[in-house]
Amino acid sequence: MTEQFFLPQSWYPICVSREIKKKQLKPIVFNGTDWLLFRGGDGKLGMVSRFCPHMGNDLANGKVKDNCIACPLHDWHFNAKGECKKMPPSNLKPSQVLTGRLFVEEKYGLVFIFWGEKPLFEIPQFTGIVNPAYSMPLVHQLQNPYLAVGLNGFDTWHFCNVHNRTVFSYTVFSQNIFHIGINLEIGLIVRRWYDYIIKFLGLLKSNIQLDYYGGNLIMVHNKMTGHCAFLALLPNEGNETTTLYFIVALPKESRTSFLRIIEKPRLSFLRFMSFSFLKPDFPIQKNMRPMKGILTTEDASAVDFWTYWDKLPRYPMNK
Ligand code: FES
Ligand SMILES: [Fe+2]
Repeated sequence: MTEQFFLPQSWYPICVSREIKKKQLKPIVFNGTDWLLFRGGDGKLGMVSRFCPHMGNDLANGKVKDNCIACPLHDWHFNAKGECKKMPPSNLKPSQVLTGRLFVEEKYGLVFIFWGEKPLFEIPQFTGIVNPAYSMPLVHQLQNPYLAVGLNGFDTWHFCNVHNRTVFSYTVFSQNIFHIGINLEIGLIVRRWYDYIIKFLGLLKSNIQLDYYGGNLIMVHNKMTGHCAFLALLPNEGNETTTLYFIVALPKESRTSFLRIIEKPRLSFLRFMSFSFLKPDFPIQKNMRPMKGILTTEDASAVDFWTYWDKLPRYPMNK
């Protein structure tokens, strides 16, 4: 069993929705703890402790029945809320038995769990985007701790070195304890192949807003084109590697049938271009150990991010 980290309370992406069909179950290890994700016949998802609270049998050997996971050993049934809904006659009543559960939500074709007693904020919305004008999720395994990816957007100094962008100015703001945002005015330095495409499209300057929620959910909004991207980060393998779920969205609902036909290729192209922008970070930050080291005045926004990170409410609370 891996070590359990004192992770921020947040929504974490655990898989792509289509990976779990009706009446299927999927064992999940999250932050060193064992869970069982299941989808009832009604299509709703639940995530309960993997081992039965009766005698510890592995519920992954069970079946989904009546929108519950049924333990094969003595047939106790647990619903998505962790409530025992059925058990053979005994001195206990089902209503007296509860097992551990986490809140589950599906959005943008992804399954999220809330790490905490109960959700403290909502999964962020794309700005001005009407469903379903967002892409299929791209799932990418990174050899970087998720905090390295998180810190990145606030590390304005690295934009020039790694991404061929000049940061003319920026402002940092916050809506609540779970949120921090940064508005960046950015200029293009044409060096890589995709910079030429961006130059060709006349986007030499851009105004980008990044909004972070719970330390692991990042909304990117290009204020000039209206395009959005969403990065949802899942820390795994002892917090040293990360699964990145990446989605992009078009600024407007496609109104004409022609635009609707080319919506999918447009989204795929946008996803490819946006991901190409992020990619140079990944090999550079491999095995990074993010820390507040010897910082300079150029690192002011990174310091703002650390301050935000340190204040994020953690779970479990008693660790
Ligand atoms: S161990 Fe699960 S019902 Fe007995
Ligand atoms: Fe970066």
